Amino acid sequence: MQIMSSEKSAFNFGVLKKSPFFASFSEKQLMLISEKAPCTFVYKNLVVSRQGEFSATMYLILNGRVKIEREGMDGENIFAAELCDGQVFGESAMLNKELHQGTVTALEDSELLVIDRSLMMEIIHNSTPEEIIDIFSTLSEQMRAVQNREFHEVLTRRTLAAQMEVEKQRALTEMVAGMAHEINTPLGIINTAVSIMARELAAPKEVTIQRAADIAESLEIMQRNVERAHKLVQNFQKISVSQLIEEKELFDISLAVEETVSLVLVNLKRSQIGVNFVNRLAFEQKGWVGYRGVLSQILINLLTNAERHAYPNGIGGDVDVTIELADDKHYRLTVQDYGKGIPKENQPHIFEPFFTTARNKGGTGLGLAIVHNLVVNVLKGEIRLRPDQQKGTAFQVVFPRVMPD
Ligand SMILES: Nc1ncnc2c1ncn2[C@@H]1O[C@H](COP(=O)(O)OP(=O)(O)OP(=O)(O)O)[C@@H](O)[C@H]1O
Ligand SMILES: [Mg+2]
Repeated sequence: MQIMSSEKSAFNFGVLKKSPFFASFSEKQLMLISEKAPCTFVYKNLVVSRQGEFSATMYLILNGRVKIEREGMDGENIFAAELCDGQVFGESAMLNKELHQGTVTALEDSELLVIDRSLMMEIIHNSTPEEIIDIFSTLSEQMRAVQNREFHEVLTRRTLAAQMEVEKQRALTEMVAGMAHEINTPLGIINTAVSIMARELAAPKEVTIQRAADIAESLEIMQRNVERAHKLVQNFQKISVSQLIEEKELFDISLAVEETVSLVLVNLKRSQIGVNFVNRLAFEQKGWVGYRGVLSQILINLLTNAERHAYPNGIGGDVDVTIELADDKHYRLTVQDYGKGIPKENQPHIFEPFFTTARNKGGTGLGLAIVHNLVVNVLKGEIRLRPDQQKGTAFQVVFPRVMPD
């Protein structure tokens, strides 16, 4: 920080006069401050004073903006205040000879007036007792206001954290309840089929062709439902992200997308689906330190959905898969089909676990729930339907190029 002697004392005087902190100071006192106190410049993002440091200085913001943060009990940074022109900080550390209670960082290039303890003492020394009382009552009021604001800030944060915890628990409970409900159906059917078979086989009757056919049908029903229960459990396991988390690695994202597409294409071709892969990334934009498996899991689910839901019963059609930059900090992966589309009334529900319009064809309704979970919790990104899609469906996944740790 560079301290400069000020030639702008008239300007400083104007700001001082408007500052609530100096409201109780006399013109004479303010004149003294504006003449004697030096100015300093701080550039954006620089720390002016740090929590825990000793200081005998307070600052008045002449122009600019700073933020004050405090380290909470759990080591978290608690935002305490944002201050701008005419506001002061560091006053309590200066007057009480305390350590700084917070860290002050410039939010933009700022100009500050530096008022040190000796100058303040000089002013107090030359003041009448009434003036001194006024100064201190303004001071204590200000400090109370700051403390109140901080108390509210902490309270709001804690309340929010508690609410989020409750919300997470609720989601989990709903998920488990949904799973129990879903798995009950195939188990119930298996149960009925088993009892029919048991009854059939208990009476030693002649095995007619009809009876053999009935038993075969029951067995088939059982097999189908065991498979469904198995798929439900498998998908349910995938919902838990920790199962899929791998080490981050550096790889060519465009190549990884292309490889997954060609892998899935082997299956899709049977349903007459053609996939166009479009890479809009420049060479130097392709390197991604991320999760290869997660990316391909997302793609596989979206492509399978296009096959099953956009172009059902093997009618076939095109799917475009595009990788590009959404902005300089984010990738955008788009999977677009031109098929049946998703009716407006279903759109808000597609990411919900167990929502499916294909239950009778073996859909579990967990595919998009898994995708959503991976995008939001692992890639720290967002997934949405492209709102302006005319025909068919387009899923857009936007996620950071640099993954936060
Ligand atoms: N590309 C698409 N075109 C039309 N509808 C779609 C498309 N993708 C998803 N859907 C709709 O969203 C629903 C939910 O999809 P989701 O992948 O979660 O479940 P699912 O495919 O039915 O079952 P599974 O758990 O086996 O994936 C589908 O049942 C379907 O109605
Ligand atoms: Mg699916």
